[in-house]
Amino acid sequence: MDQIDTLRGKYIEAVTAAADEAALESVRLAALGKKGEISALMATLGKMEPEARKAAGAQLNVLKDEIDAALRARKTALADAALDERLRAEWLDVTLPGRPRREGTIHPVSQVTDEVTAIFADMGFAVAEGPQIESDWFNFDALNIPPEHPARQEHDTFFMARAEGDDRPPHVLRTHTSPVQIRAMADRGAPIRVIAPGRVYRMDMDQTHTPMFHQVEGLAIDRDISMANLKWVLEEFCRTYFEVAEVELRFRASHFPFTEPSAEVDIRCSWEGGQLKIGQGDSWMEILGSGMVHPKVLSAAGVDPDQWQGFAFGMGIDRIAMLKYGIPDLRAFFESDLRWLRHYGFSALDLPTVFGGLSR
Ligand code: PHE
Repeated sequence: MDQIDTLRGKYIEAVTAAADEAALESVRLAALGKKGEISALMATLGKMEPEARKAAGAQLNVLKDEIDAALRARKTALADAALDERLRAEWLDVTLPGRPRREGTIHPVSQVTDEVTAIFADMGFAVAEGPQIESDWFNFDALNIPPEHPARQEHDTFFMARAEGDDRPPHVLRTHTSPVQIRAMADRGAPIRVIAPGRVYRMDMDQTHTPMFHQVEGLAIDRDISMANLKWVLEEFCRTYFEVAEVELRFRASHFPFTEPSAEVDIRCSWEGGQLKIGQGDSWMEILGSGMVHPKVLSAAGVDPDQWQGFAFGMGIDRIAMLKYGIPDLRAFFESDLRWLRHYGFSALDLPTVFGGLSR
């Protein structure tokens, strides 16, 4: 069958000559497509004598497979060539040093979050997360803050709008990281040791308050955890974080609906010559709120308060960043002023660790 050989020659040549995928596709259509030449020949088989049909059919099938294989091989070759071309054109010398003027920096909030995470990880705390748009149940009710409780106003909460006619209580922008206590305990049960850093929101704005700021929540629940453990953990944290040999903490009785007893914690410091020094001096600076988790909070999270107990604390990340790095105005944290970011930012390549050093 000369015709078969002619077709083979014609299409194999066309496949080889196809310079791109589109050209290849038109070759495929011309040969193997529904209206293609080979399909047309296949259609004539029906009119042949049985013997001739068998022979011709077999030859046509072989030809079809050959062309198909050639098409595939060419397609792969074209793709390889295209990739080679891209690799040639789009290269980047990763061994070149960065250009200092363009080098970004790590924001103090990110840096301090990494430092805090490293320190607590070293003490066996995992990181937990929760949403910033939170239901009022997680933000308030589960934390023993009932609807009529004054803390709901105290918090200056941002409420999310509901669709018209939807009477369910509105979601809120979480006013603290404490709802993550509930989520973490409901998810993992007890015993549990977590911290939860993240953004929180309150309607407030002056030199030390912004409507969005950052907290880190701490939670440790086990069979016999006490205030003594809380005190040790916080002292250990402060010594490591502020990179001083000795710190002194003062626990002041306080009130939070979700802890009993509750304490606010101050750190000893001095303001000599307008310079803040942590660890010595006659002044005290409040750094966090804490206490023993209220039994009602444990119950709300599905943890049996007759078997489990523990402490929780909430600390302002921006605040301890200001204290450690001498940054005077909180509002500047969130203005994205490049000069500020270059001045207070940290090298992107230094990862804070407890053993290797937190900050350089
Ligand atoms: N959620 C409290 C606040 O935002 C802080 C806190 C957390 C207090 C955990 C006690 C225990 O002020």
